[in-house]
Amino acid sequence: MVERSAPLPYPSGWFCVGRLRELAPGRLRTVRLMGEDVVLYRTRRGAVRAVGPHCPHLGAHFGAGGTVRGEELVCPFHGFAFGLDGSCTGSPDGVRFRGGLAGRHLRERDGMLFVWAGAPDGGDPSWELPPAVGVRPLAWWSGEEPTHPQEVMENIVDFRHVRVLHGLDTREAAPPEVAGPLFTVHQRTTARFPGLGPVSLEQPVTLAGLGLMHLEVELPQVGGTLWLWVLPTPLAPWRTRVCVAAAATVPVPGGRSVRAVDRAASWAALRATVRIIGQDRVVLAHKRYLAQPRLVPGERSIGLFRRWAGQFYPGFHSEAVPGFRFEASPESGVMD
Ligand code: FES
Ligand SMILES: [Fe+2]
Repeated sequence: MVERSAPLPYPSGWFCVGRLRELAPGRLRTVRLMGEDVVLYRTRRGAVRAVGPHCPHLGAHFGAGGTVRGEELVCPFHGFAFGLDGSCTGSPDGVRFRGGLAGRHLRERDGMLFVWAGAPDGGDPSWELPPAVGVRPLAWWSGEEPTHPQEVMENIVDFRHVRVLHGLDTREAAPPEVAGPLFTVHQRTTARFPGLGPVSLEQPVTLAGLGLMHLEVELPQVGGTLWLWVLPTPLAPWRTRVCVAAAATVPVPGGRSVRAVDRAASWAALRATVRIIGQDRVVLAHKRYLAQPRLVPGERSIGLFRRWAGQFYPGFHSEAVPGFRFEASPESGVMD
């Protein structure tokens, strides 16, 4: 008998652990990812690394008094130092030991830092994040939600809730496209803007695993572009930090882009997105994940999304949870 409310385990993939600007050269900080600490540090020359928190010598936590000295990470307990490749490079009396830090795979995209999570102990990445867009977020928000990254991401294919809960006229413009760890949703929103009347916006939304949702909106009426990122990071079972980042370019008369205008547009887009997340909050906080939902016509993409998401649970017994049945070729994406 399959539990209709089987909980979801932690997914594998790339998850955002903050921004590069939060990590000045010569500093370190501890972040939380899937019930564990990860220590991020940035050397004086600017190299960024992510490592397991405990020193391999006698287990001290680098985040509790560790320092960055030049290009090395130094443990607070006995002063062993570690180089960028994780190897032990010295100590106050010159002794070294073989072996070194438990490194975590780290990527930077558009000023955001992502750490790979896969079992056990992080593991090695089985796929790469899409390339950087080439713009830096100008507005940023984060909040903690009692939910799971898959539940946050599933919202994007749940068009019925967009109309009912958020009151937006958003429709699916074409079926989603699946390409390995990428899932692209094609949606069209009709909205009214002051002075412009009803405007129809096409917004392909790309998910790169369950940790990165990216949306680029062309605004032909003003000749601008808006970029949004929604980044759910699992902190603990059913506890997720959701970061939202926004960037915009809005040309002013003369065709120039003015930083203050771009920033104001970015914050406006961010506020609108955070308001939508706020509307979801009450539902997400109390809903239960149903492995066998009663999908109705028009909700085919939810089933397709769940089948695609199944690839991020290696070792999870997919046959135990029918919503997760994941066949060898996710590209086929046919719903039962
Ligand atoms: S525990 Fe880190 S140097 Fe000894
Ligand atoms: Fe929503």
